[in-house]
Amino acid sequence: MKFSHYSVMLEECMDGLSVKKGGTYFDGTLGGGGHSEAILKRLDGEGFLFSTDLDDDAILSATERLSKFSNFKAVKSNFKNFKAVADELGIDCIDGAILDLGVSSYQLDNRERGFSYMSRETRLDMRMDRSSGFSAYEVVNGYDEKKLKFIISCYGEEKFAGNIAKNIVETRKIKPIETTGELVDICDRSIPYKFKRDTHPAKKTFQAIRIEVNGELSGLDTVLKDIVDRLKKGGRLAVITFHSLEDRIVKTIFKELSQGCDCDKRYPCVCGKKEIVREVNKKPIVASDNELSANSRSKSAKLRVVEKL
Ligand SMILES: C[S@@+](CC[C@H](N)C(=O)[O-])C[C@H]1O[C@@H](n2cnc3c(N)ncnc32)[C@H](O)[C@@H]1O
Repeated sequence: MKFSHYSVMLEECMDGLSVKKGGTYFDGTLGGGGHSEAILKRLDGEGFLFSTDLDDDAILSATERLSKFSNFKAVKSNFKNFKAVADELGIDCIDGAILDLGVSSYQLDNRERGFSYMSRETRLDMRMDRSSGFSAYEVVNGYDEKKLKFIISCYGEEKFAGNIAKNIVETRKIKPIETTGELVDICDRSIPYKFKRDTHPAKKTFQAIRIEVNGELSGLDTVLKDIVDRLKKGGRLAVITFHSLEDRIVKTIFKELSQGCDCDKRYPCVCGKKEIVREVNKKPIVASDNELSANSRSKSAKLRVVEKL
């Protein structure tokens, strides 16, 4: 299957990053290479871009797409290893970084990968990194009811998480749940009809299991701080999120890093806290109407940018 992905808020990200010719940049979520390519074009043959992705297909296809740029390096790694990857390349400080979180359209649309609730006969998988031994199959067939309810409720914000978890456990007593279609059917019968009219009954559960399989939220706060730590003065970090849970983490960390001393102003400062970044936009940037008509997946995207002080 051809790697196809619409790069969300491409122009807004480039404006936010304010790419400097000759600068050093990091793209933690290479995907189809759209944001990376836009950075490389702005670097105009100077400077350097290094990008990571967990998915071999993304690394292969973007490496081919970007082969004409000699100042580019793709590394198969979790972006949470940012510091180690930078150290390995001998890079101390960077001028900017971008994280476009979540899954690519290629991953969602490629039925073999098991991310989509629209496919039926696909084995439960949902791994971004297919060399990992932990997939949706292990979550659905291995987690106890309490843990299933917790992840479906927390990561999917699914009101009927309790019913779904209970029905998963009941169903697998007979035989393991193997396909995406079987999981969709369980979600379908766990949710009352009137709550299924607006959204697909399996949407939130699939999101929750995908987040669990790929550990999407754990360590996100730490890597944001790691990246900011290595930004040069005036360097920028742009992050695109697609659901409220990851956006909350980004918002909280950006707020924390942009707040200075919070001591009572009548007395000398005892906390020693200093502003490390400034938020480039007070409110998150969202996709334009033009973009929304070209790509409906941009609908839930929020872009936040900070600049190192
Ligand atoms: C939304 S897509 C990025 C698309 C890309 N910006 C473009 O323009 O084509 C997200 C990509 O990030 C990868 N990814 C998600 N979490 C990751 C992580 N923690 N470490 C490395 N790659 C990750 C996914 O495998 C996917 O290919």
